[in-house]
Amino acid sequence: MRIIVDADPGIDDALALYYLRAQQDTEIVAIGTVHGNVPVEQATANALRLTERLGIKAPVAMGAAKPLAQPLMTAENVHGEDGLGGFAGDVPTTTCTDESAAEQIARLARAHPGELNLLAIGPLTNVALALQIEPRLPLLLGKVVVMGGALNVPGNITSYAEANFWHDPEAADLVLGAGFEDLTIVGLDVTMANHAPGEWLEALPHDNYARQFLGFYADFYESYLGKPGFVPHDPLAAAILLQPELATYHEDRFAIELTGRYTRGALVADLRFLAEGSPFDRDIATERAKAKYAVTAQNGVFLDQL
Ligand code: BDR
Ligand code: CA
Repeated sequence: MRIIVDADPGIDDALALYYLRAQQDTEIVAIGTVHGNVPVEQATANALRLTERLGIKAPVAMGAAKPLAQPLMTAENVHGEDGLGGFAGDVPTTTCTDESAAEQIARLARAHPGELNLLAIGPLTNVALALQIEPRLPLLLGKVVVMGGALNVPGNITSYAEANFWHDPEAADLVLGAGFEDLTIVGLDVTMANHAPGEWLEALPHDNYARQFLGFYADFYESYLGKPGFVPHDPLAAAILLQPELATYHEDRFAIELTGRYTRGALVADLRFLAEGSPFDRDIATERAKAKYAVTAQNGVFLDQL
């Protein structure tokens, strides 16, 4: 499978790259970076460092520095000041390309219609901007897997909003309404249930780089959840892109709450038991294409890839 990765590395974004580079018949065609866990300049430096360290031969394009309609908010409390738990390391020796991450998505999708898949594991600003550049993007990309949202479980930023959608609700809503034919959303319903236990981290050699940068993330999760270990959100989304059979899905039309005082950034769907052809108005416009939201998933998919 050939994949464009859009990410905000970010500790679990790094794990997603570890996972992907270890899979057979999988090519990371290009990487785009976005604000989110850290400012985009830091996310870009981290993407370059990770491609160098992991031997990933993919161009890195720097993406959006801020959300479409709200101020920048970052999450150094989860990922560390440098986005890799204090272990980002030296200045990268490679540099990013001249085009933006949104331009990169649009260009590659036009050049290889139907051949490329998109894994978006940060805020969706770049994908929304790519839709402005190329409105036919939903027809040009293959599978799209987005990490974000919390449908039947609490959010992780507010009670209703998950981080990636909360960082740019307008962008997420544009993407969910754009008409992608094969769109899967991997949210907290499955990622929080995929908790990686502390013993697993302890079993990694002390000089293992992932063990080093995961320490900060595990400390955050222990303070948040009250148990040792961490939540590998982004690698689970990567695994579900490659192996959709790992999950079961709720198929629906989805939108993002943009105005709620307590619920801005929440993923919403038409959850009532409305029969086909029911005269009751639907919550979400029926013009929106349906997408799949993962509701259960097999655990531990990436643990032997580090
Ligand atoms: C998502 O937000 C970020 O902290 C992670 O990298 C992941 O993409 C989880 O809510
Ligand atoms: Ca991420």
